[in-house]
Amino acid sequence: MFAILLICGAGFGWADDMAVNVAVNSGVNSGAIDAQRAQQLEHLVRQDCGSCHGMTLKGGLGPDIRAATLQGSDPEAVKQIILDGVPGTPMPPWRALISETEARWIADYLIRGGAQ
Ligand code: HEC
Repeated sequence: MFAILLICGAGFGWADDMAVNVAVNSGVNSGAIDAQRAQQLEHLVRQDCGSCHGMTLKGGLGPDIRAATLQGSDPEAVKQIILDGVPGTPMPPWRALISETEARWIADYLIRGGAQ
């Protein structure tokens, strides 16, 4: 029971953080990712993805998503997971908060090890 409460609490935390730090500043459908937006997306990966995947992305509630683990993954498939989540698991969809271009940027960023 305690663990469940803890997870829910973390869930609300990332949702708030997202709304403030990312969605508001986004220009959600803009094509190009400028340096400032790249910085925001890096922050998103560390703070929000990290809340489940671990601060170093080596796994927590969600699995390890470091480059060594994702190596060989199709970036388009990773992009779809980020956009749509994994139904029936805690992995949430991010479609409402980031554009397809941004999800692809994050996928490439994870696969090339930019977050490490
Ligand atoms: C609320 C917790 C949570 C958050 C926040 C979260 N994830 Fe996940 N994620 C999961 C879980 C749990 C899974 C495993 C789903 C399954 O069982 O297939 C997962 C799976 C994934 C996978 C597939 C990994 C694989 O090897 O199959 C990727 C990629 C991923 N997440 C990326 C992200 C990114 C990028 C973010 C931030 C934009 C993020 N996740 C935020 C919980 C989370």
